[in-house]
Amino acid sequence: MDGHCQRDLNRFKLICPVCGSPLISGEKTVSCGNAHSFDLSRKGAVNLLRSSGKGKHHGDDKTMVRARTMFLSKGYYDPLSEAVDEMLLPFLKDGSPVIDAGCGEGKYTEDLLLYARDYGKELSLLGVDISKEAVSALRGRTRDISAIVASTSAIPIKAGSADALMCIFSPLFPKEFSRVLRPDGVFLHVVPLENHLIELKEKIYEHPYLNPPPDSCIDGFELIAQKDLSYSVHLRSREDVAALFQMTPYNYKTGRDDQSKLRSLEELDVTLAFGLFLYQKESRR
Ligand SMILES: C[S@@+](CC[C@H](N)C(=O)[O-])C[C@H]1O[C@@H](n2cnc3c(N)ncnc32)[C@H](O)[C@@H]1O
Ligand SMILES: [Zn+2]
Repeated sequence: MDGHCQRDLNRFKLICPVCGSPLISGEKTVSCGNAHSFDLSRKGAVNLLRSSGKGKHHGDDKTMVRARTMFLSKGYYDPLSEAVDEMLLPFLKDGSPVIDAGCGEGKYTEDLLLYARDYGKELSLLGVDISKEAVSALRGRTRDISAIVASTSAIPIKAGSADALMCIFSPLFPKEFSRVLRPDGVFLHVVPLENHLIELKEKIYEHPYLNPPPDSCIDGFELIAQKDLSYSVHLRSREDVAALFQMTPYNYKTGRDDQSKLRSLEELDVTLAFGLFLYQKESRR
């Protein structure tokens, strides 16, 4: 209905990835005063990724994005989503600009939007991901969240313009996250804990390793709250087992022989273990 346009993008202080001038979102393009222009896709996603020159960008491909969308729709990760929302909401007000850095297909982004609405707060959410497929899936899910294709190592947003930023299982760039946050802005980091998916790994690898314990110290941020969330889920079908595997990094780290071990699994009890770390941006003297 709104065609290409992402009106909400103008609520974020987007900057041109080429020259750093402010970007204004129009009907079909987003452009700066120096005539650098970026097309909006049919779904209204804009690609602000600076080319590496080699044409290669990592990020989730279509198969991984589909697997994650399918798996997350089953509700296994809903307790995590609720914990994320509960932790962030007290720091957000009506209209707060919030960035989801490495948003994937946007499950947690949309859940936060809906949760905040229940409390009378309409957030300005921006999903940022290096994967075109992921950003397109997010815009397919809802047009109430703005989305850009960009690396979160260089978010094309003016310094100090976000109230909060969340980064869930996605790459961490502390300096850049601090730059885009306003003074006292909050940052929620979610990481897998040692035992996360251990039973899945046991099915594939002879010597499965535990995830490294998270380091809660992040330069430029003060830890203000922490929550460990651990529970077991019963995967009910071969499709669910396969989708969980496909949405993890093991998908591209595992050889065919090892992957085939999963094909016969009709069900699986698996541990989900998450660490949620909430930080406040440290104010500089
Ligand atoms: C494990 S997924 C997590 C996605 C989402 N937060 C979730 O939990 O469902 C990691 C995401 O980070 C994205 N990603 C990887 N490197 C990135 C980068 N440098 N900048 C932005 N996104 C990146 C991938 O494309 C992928 O969507
Ligand atoms: Zn420009």
